[in-house]
Amino acid sequence: MKFTITACLIMGTKMSRYGSRTGNVSGTLYVPSLIKCLNMLEYIKRKLYGAKGIVKPLGTISNFKHGDVFLQTNSLDDILVMPTNSVDYIFTDPPFGANLNYSELNFIWESWLKVRTNVKPEAIINKVQNKSLLEYQQLMTECFEEYYRVLKPNRWMTVEFHNSQNSVWNAIQESLIRAGFIIADVRVLDKKQGSFKQVTTTSAVKQDLVISAYKPKESFKKEFLKKAGTEETVWDFVREHLDKLPVIVEKNGMLEKIREREPYLLYDRMVAYHIMNGIAVPIDASDFYSGLDERLIKRDGMYFLYDQINKYDNVRIKSELEPIQFNMFVDDEKSAIAWLYYQLEEPQTYAEIQPKFMKESNAAKHEKMPELAELLEENFLQDDKGKWYIPDPSKAGDIIKLREKRLLKEFEEYLVGKGRLKQFRTEAVRVGFARLWEDKDYKNIVKVGDRLPKSVIQEDDKLLMYYDIALSRLE
Ligand SMILES: C[S@@+](CC[C@H](N)C(=O)[O-])C[C@H]1O[C@@H](n2cnc3c(N)ncnc32)[C@H](O)[C@@H]1O
Repeated sequence: MKFTITACLIMGTKMSRYGSRTGNVSGTLYVPSLIKCLNMLEYIKRKLYGAKGIVKPLGTISNFKHGDVFLQTNSLDDILVMPTNSVDYIFTDPPFGANLNYSELNFIWESWLKVRTNVKPEAIINKVQNKSLLEYQQLMTECFEEYYRVLKPNRWMTVEFHNSQNSVWNAIQESLIRAGFIIADVRVLDKKQGSFKQVTTTSAVKQDLVISAYKPKESFKKEFLKKAGTEETVWDFVREHLDKLPVIVEKNGMLEKIREREPYLLYDRMVAYHIMNGIAVPIDASDFYSGLDERLIKRDGMYFLYDQINKYDNVRIKSELEPIQFNMFVDDEKSAIAWLYYQLEEPQTYAEIQPKFMKESNAAKHEKMPELAELLEENFLQDDKGKWYIPDPSKAGDIIKLREKRLLKEFEEYLVGKGRLKQFRTEAVRVGFARLWEDKDYKNIVKVGDRLPKSVIQEDDKLLMYYDIALSRLE
């Protein structure tokens, strides 16, 4: 009875809209100018016995045995009744920043039920509750830590995500990593029908994203910590991670490029996992990239384990086209280099690349983006016909080292200066933070971090990771 009544409540309020099929405007407490008057008794009857009525699915309840289903309404940061390592799979649809004020929206039925949500652990961004992005991220981390605890090792969690703001997206990823999860895949979920917010807010992401993350095997984590300080942690991580990633991803009959298998992202994940576990990263980027070539097999710019490659090759032979790279945005130096790597799989002259680059490139306001010529000079090689090409692994190491040296020099200027930094090379800050981290110089990470616009740190997963952890080390 309570379930039925609460399901009908909204339609008995002034929020029920005249001329609307669905009734109220979902996700908001909105009183329209024209109200629909309903005979509530008739409405309850329809809700119970109509085509989509409540009674129908009630009939299937007898199919469940006692103990098949377990419902809990606790806050996720308080599920101690659930044993550690007991859950096979988690699907979660967490709150996204300030999108919806759940507890406030529940007010109507909560008043009838005489139960109120305890808003203290509610993971949202909300001014009235004094919760900013920082508090939201902290609450999400506490929740994900519980997910991590109850999930069996070597098992997966799927996190649905929709929000237009990069900062919230990064807060979620940061919370996941801090809780110990390893992110293995991010893709678009096609829900077909847009929600209220998605249709009405122009800046909203039209499609939802899905993050797949896993809890590594216990033996892996133990070994990883035991081997701290040796290079083995790097390659153990890469092998473990590649083993988890899909080998083939097809979309509309075409092979899709698996970004997680590309060197840049593998490097990022490897570094993040070391840092989150409080372990120094034992090798630099150039040794990492050449190490990948020595130890693994490369196809179409992606890396595979020896026992995965047959499966990939078999499918690849049948597909005539190269795998497709989706969603390449060029908004900073890092993404510009990734874009150039993709373009220069076939060597090209400056004149050939330049118009394409102009079309794609849209640098953020704070980004001191180097000129295309400089990007080519710093990261690629030129043949005698003037065509730029990707350096082979034996030479790539030297190029990366030279570039890092240049970036560090630039970073030194940020280190000694004072006041707000308005325009800077984000890549230089990334490389600088990594170096300071190596030297355990957390104070200077925070010092430079505080000179950057807040939004830049919140919107850059790497900077956020270093800054956040450096801050916690200083506390
Ligand atoms: C995006 S909604 C999930 C919607 C759900 N999948 C559905 O289709 O109805 C996020 C939910 O997380 C809940 N939530 C917020 N903080 C929480 C916490 N600390 N523990 C558990 N749930 C929380 C919110 O009340 C909200 O119901």
